[in-house]
Amino acid sequence: MDTACVFVRVLMRTRISHMFALCVCVGVCACDSEMMPPPLTFSVRKLLRGHLDLPPPSPARRLQPSSSSLFSDSLLGSKQPLTKRHRTLLLKSSVAASSTPAGQEEALLQQWLVRTQISRRRMLTEICTKYQPGVDGQPVSQRQVSRIYVEERSRLLYCEVPKAGCSNWKRVLMVLGGSAKSTQDIPHDVAHYANHLQRLDRYSHADIAERLRSYTKVLFVREPFERLVSAFRDKFESPNSYYHPVFGRPIISRYRANATRTALHTGTGVTFREFVQYLVDVRRPVGMDIHWEPVSSLCNPCLLQYNFIGKFESLEQDANFLLRSIGAPANLSFPDFKDRNPLAERTSSRITQKYFSQLNSTERQKAFDFYYMDYLMFGYPKPFDDLH
Ligand SMILES: *[C@@H]1O[C@H](CO)[C@@H](O)[C@H](O)[C@H]1NC(C)=O
Ligand SMILES: *[C@@H]1O[C@H](CO)[C@@H](O)[C@H](O)[C@H]1NC(C)=O
Ligand SMILES: *[C@@H]1O[C@H](CO)[C@@H](O)[C@H](O)[C@H]1NC(C)=O
Repeated sequence: MDTACVFVRVLMRTRISHMFALCVCVGVCACDSEMMPPPLTFSVRKLLRGHLDLPPPSPARRLQPSSSSLFSDSLLGSKQPLTKRHRTLLLKSSVAASSTPAGQEEALLQQWLVRTQISRRRMLTEICTKYQPGVDGQPVSQRQVSRIYVEERSRLLYCEVPKAGCSNWKRVLMVLGGSAKSTQDIPHDVAHYANHLQRLDRYSHADIAERLRSYTKVLFVREPFERLVSAFRDKFESPNSYYHPVFGRPIISRYRANATRTALHTGTGVTFREFVQYLVDVRRPVGMDIHWEPVSSLCNPCLLQYNFIGKFESLEQDANFLLRSIGAPANLSFPDFKDRNPLAERTSSRITQKYFSQLNSTERQKAFDFYYMDYLMFGYPKPFDDLH
């Protein structure tokens, strides 16, 4: 298989919409069918540790002492665009890493994932420097880490973002921590309410500081409008004994003219438009909720400086990449999300468009303003052309 073909397949597998600098060398080629990503080699793990700024895995899991990584910082960490020389170096290194096409493809995919992490962190840092300068040196309060779960054995901190794969993450954390044998055996309710997971705010200030300094800090995000629609559908479009009375009632009562007595009483039947009116109202009649609170305030990314930023749009790939790079057991992979949630990415964005078409342009703009920092920090493009 020629190199160009490898690149095309790597790009296809990572479902990348923005073409990457490497892509310039891609010619037309026939790529064969989809393959499962092979497991990471040891050299790839070294590469990851060197370039993701991940702390070393826990001593029990460490296979060999980590040594200097395969690639130099100037290659993977630099701000300059990829030069021809770099490209040649990359190719040589990956060929050296493995002479088989699958190995070569694997190495390129890993490099791509490493680069993706570097660029996500760099973008976040730029936005934080611009909008919250100096925040990274400030002391951290318990409240600011209240959404973070601690997994001691793998020295992992995971900030829970609802509607961005968090149930499956809880399952994985339970397996990593030894309270479950396999992610397959864990029902949804157990993952959420009987998970034996500790939150970071339960620790002392000293223990919080120590863990923030030395553990791998992980954040998974999702396109903000999609996350919002997902939360709305989940909480308001099916029976819910908490969200209907607690949020539905005040929302209907404030934003619906001529509401029926039944609607006022049950809080059932909130429309997406009413929900958004509540969301963007500075005097909203009922408070925030973690399912629609922006990630920028849930997880305090400028303050806490996460090592790894995954995206729901590439959930399994990002999650498995992280699991391999922290030295998780080889038989632990991220649970198959699509089996649980039938919404594929494309359907999801189409559905999001459909919901937002119920709003007028002012309301859409206000919703965008509400999530503006999330859009900037995590590099999501603005979802409608008329937004500014
Ligand atoms: C994974 O391997 C460990 C031992 O290394 C074993 O205890 C565990 O049951 C395995 N899990 C699955 C899901 O096969
Ligand atoms: C509310 O009901 C009154 C009387 O039935 C009607 O005149 C008015 O137009 C309704 N308002 C709205 C916004 O539907
Ligand atoms: C959009 O709807 C809001 C009510 O949520 C209304 O106040 C506003 O005037 C509408 N804007 C436009 C441009 O129609």
